[in-house]
Amino acid sequence: MQCANEWSCISETGCDCTPFSSWAAVCTLAHILADTMTDSQTDGAATESPMEFYEKLTAQGEAVKALKTGKAPKEEIDVAVKLLLQLKLDYKRVSGQDYKAGCPPTDSPASGESVPAAAEDGDDLVDPWTVATSNAKGIDYEKLIVRFGSSKIEAELIERMERVTGQKAHRFLRRGIFFSHRRVQQPCPSALDMHQILDAYENKKSFYLYTGRGPSSEAMHMGHLIPFIFTKWLQDVFDIPLVIQLTDDEKYLWKDLTLEDCHRYAVENAKDIIACGFDVNKTFIFSDLDYMGMSSGFYRNVVKIQKHVTFNQVKGIFGFTDSDCIGKISFPAIQAAPSFSTSFPQIFNGRKDIQCLIPCAIDQDPYFRMTRDVAPRIGYPKPALLHSTFFPALQGAQTKMSASDPNSSIFLTDTAKQIKNKINKHAFSGGKDTVEEHRKHGGDADVDVSFMYLTFFLEDDEKLEQIRQDYTSGALLTGELKKCLIETLQPMITQHQERRKQVTDETVKQFMTPRKLDFHF
Ligand code: TYM
Repeated sequence: MQCANEWSCISETGCDCTPFSSWAAVCTLAHILADTMTDSQTDGAATESPMEFYEKLTAQGEAVKALKTGKAPKEEIDVAVKLLLQLKLDYKRVSGQDYKAGCPPTDSPASGESVPAAAEDGDDLVDPWTVATSNAKGIDYEKLIVRFGSSKIEAELIERMERVTGQKAHRFLRRGIFFSHRRVQQPCPSALDMHQILDAYENKKSFYLYTGRGPSSEAMHMGHLIPFIFTKWLQDVFDIPLVIQLTDDEKYLWKDLTLEDCHRYAVENAKDIIACGFDVNKTFIFSDLDYMGMSSGFYRNVVKIQKHVTFNQVKGIFGFTDSDCIGKISFPAIQAAPSFSTSFPQIFNGRKDIQCLIPCAIDQDPYFRMTRDVAPRIGYPKPALLHSTFFPALQGAQTKMSASDPNSSIFLTDTAKQIKNKINKHAFSGGKDTVEEHRKHGGDADVDVSFMYLTFFLEDDEKLEQIRQDYTSGALLTGELKKCLIETLQPMITQHQERRKQVTDETVKQFMTPRKLDFHF
């Protein structure tokens, strides 16, 4: 079925352009509830107001809570959760806002203009603000790759990376957690992908890493760690400069926070990022609020990008509406600008040809589709991208771990006891209802959140495979699997907290001061 909106296509002409018409059309959700919703429910979505949806959603949230508290059968809870998810998507479509319990819609564009619509074709919803699917196994990443026009990271690329760097691939690569990169199609000489990055490395040509964090709260969760852990590995392996953007401006524009809070969170989050082990001589961390006024290169690039992207294009890509503030509309240029080396004259000595590699989860892809589209038009190389899957919420892989729902997340500030309780209480299990049934039929590792978390954090491949086999055969019970996860995460988080304690204000200042790094350009 056709998407409700006319999305303007911002394809990467001649390179990555996908057969579908736009980002929004590709990331729309599907009819996830075709089997559970009646016609009248679906039809209602077209006519009901945001407030009516809000009220329905609130009631459905309560219903799910009651089912869970009353320990209702799993199938019944699943159906109720699916309906909740669908309502959330419909709410976003008609109101242009994310649902927040206790916060009714602030205004009602109702026209649904340019809001990524809930589609009817069986797809998952993935954008910088929402990740949702009805599938207990999580987002269908194979399909996402096809729709986003990126390429799967194949075994051959991983082997090449190991050959070229002489290092064993990180477990995130071995296990398909970083699963996608951007493809190059000829003719497109300035496009980059991981093969070109490896070519550059083999030819001793420089490139740099860029990643970021939107500081919306003091505490980061484990999902946020994924790109930083991987970026640290890339920096060690390739020995290259790294820039980390803290978008305190973005969080001020999107959230109900003061500028002071956003800036304070940026500094607090920088401590967690530094605690991942980055080298101060090779890493520059910056707050947008600070760096925009200090740099002679950053704002110039922001303005260049703003001049080359139209309102229609960002509406098409991000689903902005006429009632969004102009800060939001122009923000994508600010996230795009660090992809270009001239944004950091102090590091790259004014050179504009240094290639950039961006590791991030795939929710950030819209920003960089736009960036890659605009790059050749302003005379810069396109950045290359490495996309990761999402670290799922404790309640299941239907959505990602999110800071706005504390029960869905394990935070880097959680105590060992909190970690244990959260996993035991909330981690969705693929086990059977009774020990007897579990021993007889085995568990389903594909939907089990504890097993999924172990795939991210248990280093030993053989042990992980043994756990999978034992759980599937029924030899390993859910409680035992959870214990294994708890014993993996507790020391990891404690060690992170100890490293973070060593990060002083002076250290943060060093990382965040614009300066030359230990590289010569
Ligand atoms: P933010 O703060 O939402 O997320 C920071 C980084 O973490 C990734 N991420 C996750 N990865 C795996 N599982 C999850 N559950 C999960 N949740 C978040 C995000 O993809 C991101 O890489 N606008 C950005 C900040 C930013 C940025 C960048 C990110 C600015 N420049 C360049 C990546 C690359 C944001 O709000 O990220």
